[in-house]
Amino acid sequence: MSDIVYFNGDFMPRDQVRISPNDRGWLLGDGVYEVAPCYAGRFLRLDLHLDRLGVSLAKMAIEGVDLAEIERVSWELLRRNDLLAAPRSLVHFQISRGSAPRTHAFPVPAVPPTVYGFAARFARKPQCETGGAIITRSDFRWSRCDIKAISLAANCLANQEAQAAGAFEAVFVRDGMVLEGSHTNFFAVQNGVVRTAPLGNYILAGISRGVAIECCREAGIPVLEEALPESALAAVDEIFLTGSTTEVMPIVAVDGRPVGTGTIGGQTRTIAELYRRAAEAA
Ligand SMILES: Cc1ncc(COP(=O)(O)O)c(C=O)c1O
Repeated sequence: MSDIVYFNGDFMPRDQVRISPNDRGWLLGDGVYEVAPCYAGRFLRLDLHLDRLGVSLAKMAIEGVDLAEIERVSWELLRRNDLLAAPRSLVHFQISRGSAPRTHAFPVPAVPPTVYGFAARFARKPQCETGGAIITRSDFRWSRCDIKAISLAANCLANQEAQAAGAFEAVFVRDGMVLEGSHTNFFAVQNGVVRTAPLGNYILAGISRGVAIECCREAGIPVLEEALPESALAAVDEIFLTGSTTEVMPIVAVDGRPVGTGTIGGQTRTIAELYRRAAEAA
C-alpha cells in the first residue's frame, strides 16, 4: 500500500503525486527542505524546525508557504500513516519555487511553490551503540550552508565517499577548520570542553546541534562554539555527530585512525543519554 503524502494542498497516495518536468526543484535545485523527528507522537522541537524552514524560505525568497499549515500537515501525516505511536518517525517537507519554463531568474509573475510532505519511520543507527567512523574532505560546497537547500550534490558525493571507505559520514574542512558533516553537525571534546563550529554561513544550524548544546549545559560541560582546526583533530579525546535522525552518534575513528582511546568517550555517553531523555520528554 502506498503511503499517504501531502502534495500542494491535498493528501493522496504517494504514487498519485505528479510533479511537472518544469519544476524548478528538478531543473535547478531551487528549493528548500526540512525534516523534523518525532518520538512516540511527540515532536522534538517542531517549533524550531518550523522556524528554520521559515528562515530557509525567506533566505531563498520563496513566498506563499503557510507555516501554520505545515505544522497542521505534519501532525496529519503522522496520523494518516499510523505513526503516532511509532518509537521514531519523521516528517519531511520538500518545497521548490514552483513550476515555470526554465530560467535562472525567478519566474515573473511568481508561481505557487511546489510543496511535498511525507512521514516515515526511522531507526536508531547501530553506530550510536558501537561508535561510527568519519572521513574528512575539503569543503567543496557553496558558501550558503546556512540554508537547508535541496541542492545536495556535493553532500551526496562526499557521503558516498564515506560509505565507500566504510565510514558513516564525511566531515567538511574549509580553510583548515572542521565544520560539519554532509548531513550532521560535528562536535569534538578536548580536556573536558565540547567544541563545535559557530553558526554562520558555513554550517547548517542543526536543531539537534542546539539540543546537544543544551544537554552539555545541563550536564555542566563547557561548550565552545569555535571551529576545531583540522591540525588539532588527532589530539581530541572524543568526537560525536548530531542530526535529527542521526541523534548523538559517537565517532571512534577519523580517516582510519582511532579517536582518543578508540572507544566511546564518557562525555559523549552523558550527552547522548541526556539527548535521549530530551527526546523522550519532548
Ligand atoms: C549539512 C547538514 N548539517 C547538519 C544537519 C543536522 O541538522 P538537524 O540537527 O536539524 O537535523 C543536517 C541535517 O540534514 C545537514 O544536512
